[in-house]
Amino acid sequence: AEALKIGIAGLGTVGSALFKIIETRQNMLAITCGRKIEIVAVSARDRNRDRGIDMSGVAWYDDPVAMASEAGIDVFIELMGGASGAAHAAVKAALGRGLHVVTANKALLAAHGVDLAALAEEKGAILNFEAAVAGGIPVIKALRESLTGNTVSRVYGIMNGTCNYILTRMEKEAMSFEACLKEAQRLGYAEADPAFDIEGNDTAHKLSILTTLAFGTRIAADDIYLEGITNISLEDIRAAGELGYKIKLLGVAQKTATGIEQRVHPTMVPVDSVIAQVDGVTNAVAIESDILGELLMVGPGAGGNATASAVLGDIADIAKSRPGAQLVPSLGRPALQLEPFVRGEI
Ligand code: NAP
Ligand code: HSE
Repeated sequence: AEALKIGIAGLGTVGSALFKIIETRQNMLAITCGRKIEIVAVSARDRNRDRGIDMSGVAWYDDPVAMASEAGIDVFIELMGGASGAAHAAVKAALGRGLHVVTANKALLAAHGVDLAALAEEKGAILNFEAAVAGGIPVIKALRESLTGNTVSRVYGIMNGTCNYILTRMEKEAMSFEACLKEAQRLGYAEADPAFDIEGNDTAHKLSILTTLAFGTRIAADDIYLEGITNISLEDIRAAGELGYKIKLLGVAQKTATGIEQRVHPTMVPVDSVIAQVDGVTNAVAIESDILGELLMVGPGAGGNATASAVLGDIADIAKSRPGAQLVPSLGRPALQLEPFVRGEI
């Protein structure tokens, strides 16, 4: 079979990890996917930055939109970030040409996911985004594929590695919030603007994607009740511990009598609960549905390799021509009402 030609836009934490994995596992990938995965083009801002990768023989584009239209690729991999600007323009250009797209960009999907999914559908292209929610945990696959036929009643969990890393180190080592955040940034967990992590927006973006898949609602990150972890002090964590609780930043979406409630906020969870054992950059997503019951998935939620692993799975699905469902399973499906959250119990 012909090689699958890919172009990678964004060679930061995730993009360079993906580049290295594909280059060092060529043979294994060719066997698993039934065809070679060939990186033919890349795009980033700074051509001279040392990224620890050998880009000889790979075309360089300063402009990711030009890479989408001129590089002769089959799949456009978007790993730049940002809800608008270059990432949006390039993904639109790629889908518009009928190229398949793989993205890890939850901010982009939360803002434009439904339109992009509609464009992909119109052009017969695949839009895959496993890495956009909970890093390496295959939660999108679970909702799109494994839970087919189930009616979901609740999705919740720890969906931001940076926040969980900060809360864990504050609890275990009494490290300051600022020092923990710096370390999460150094390790490549945090967003380019870490305010998205610590103020809860990143969890809201992810939750809105899960809500859309689980309940067929429109994407509405702006409608989510939002409270981040910026006000959590060492004293709060210590006091919670004395009462037998840990503080975790949770995203929760659940069916109510009148619609779907969505919220993101620091939550006291009993120390002996499963969710309380999820520490560090690890994420956990629970899905409650009528046929399967409760599914709990725990795994690495951020970082170059964990995220690149999910991106690679999406590429492999395309190589094997497994078009996952689009972001909204059927765009024609009537949407459930989202309702404003009134503060209450998890
Ligand atoms: P990053 O380290 O900041 O890298 C971003 C890359 O995009 C850089 O290589 C940058 O180029 C390039 N870039 C930015 N604007 C560009 C433009 N206008 N034109 C061309 N290239 C541009 O980000 P990251 O951590 O790898 O994250 C990438 C995406 O994955 C984001 O959407 C993020 O939310 C998502 N994600 C990240 C993680 C994680 O753990 N890091 C996990 C899941 C999802 P230069 O290198 O030249 O500056
Ligand atoms: N900044 C994000 C996090 C990256 O810490 O979870 C993974 O989406």
